[in-house]
Amino acid sequence: MGGTQMFTPSQDLIEAGTTSIAGLTGARILEEMDISYSPGLASDLAPLYERVATVIPSVEWPFFAPYIKAINELKRDKNAVILAHNYQTPEIFHCIADVVGDSLQLAREAARAEGDIIVQCGVHFMAETSKLLNPDKTVLIPDMGAGCSLAESITGADVRALREAYPGVPIVTYVNTSAAVKAESDVCCTSSNAKKIVEAMGTDKVLCIPDEFLAQNIAQETNVEVIAWKGRCEVHEQFTADELRQYRADDPGLKIIAHPECAPSVLGESDFSGSTSAMIKWVSDNQPERVLMVTECSMSDNIAVENPNVNFVRPCNLCPHMKQITLPKVLEALVFEREAVEVDADVAARARLSVERMIDMSS
Ligand code: 13P
Ligand code: SF4
Repeated sequence: MGGTQMFTPSQDLIEAGTTSIAGLTGARILEEMDISYSPGLASDLAPLYERVATVIPSVEWPFFAPYIKAINELKRDKNAVILAHNYQTPEIFHCIADVVGDSLQLAREAARAEGDIIVQCGVHFMAETSKLLNPDKTVLIPDMGAGCSLAESITGADVRALREAYPGVPIVTYVNTSAAVKAESDVCCTSSNAKKIVEAMGTDKVLCIPDEFLAQNIAQETNVEVIAWKGRCEVHEQFTADELRQYRADDPGLKIIAHPECAPSVLGESDFSGSTSAMIKWVSDNQPERVLMVTECSMSDNIAVENPNVNFVRPCNLCPHMKQITLPKVLEALVFEREAVEVDADVAARARLSVERMIDMSS
């Protein structure tokens, strides 16, 4: 790929382009923008490309570079901040994000975000969490369809039914859920603080929903009786213990690290398990010669940049929802200030309590 690349927003976005920056409509902002690859742009962004050259092929750079420049300029003009999850692709993670992290880090950063606009490069529940913590800010998600199989697995009505079925048992809810589900819960958790939050409830029984595997993995580490729901991550449930045993048999020196959304039998074959950021820290601290990251594909690409001596074995699985977020969609989101995430005020007030309790309890 090479030569000139033109930004072609969908026609409905152009027609709806009423958002203004210094009096310009979204459609005018687009007209003023130069989304093309030129020798000048190549030279301006050469230091950035040098940093990511091991994970972004040179044939792809002429397509990405004009968007990266336009997004970074518009971000400054509009006082916007881009929060990106560790599963975002390298051109988003390394080239346009202001903050990267796991779900807990992104929630914490959202709570202290200073811009007027937050653009969430991640899935819908992450953008909703940012909105809960910033009710007066505009929170944009570049693709409203970026969902999550865990968030889809449970509704607010399901949580009310659980509360009736288990009176007095606290409900700890994974952040990978809708605001309506968080609103019915006592406190949220993420993969990095789940055990701590479950134990902090001070009861001998806790409902930990909706990730069945996360609940089972916590149950193995605590004396608290953990009651699970039947949700699963469609990405992590695909890994099997047999497959990991085969990798280890083929390469006895290989280190295997896994996300706790995997089945307990998969974690049983692993050298370490933790949240996406805990996995990143483990690689950075231990500098294994070869490592297999049992999680979403982009993680290995993203951290390969900072760990040139580590060889990443990549039987990863893609999250189709995370992959809905692309540079052209981020630019469209910023230009037209769409799609803005909204949460019903009553639901938001109750859901916010669950998220804030989690942040307080994990500090
Ligand atoms: P982390 O909180 O570990 O980043 O996990 C989020 C997620 O969606 C993993 O699938
Ligand atoms: Fe949801 Fe799994 Fe994708 Fe994470 S990787 S966003 S849990 S579907």
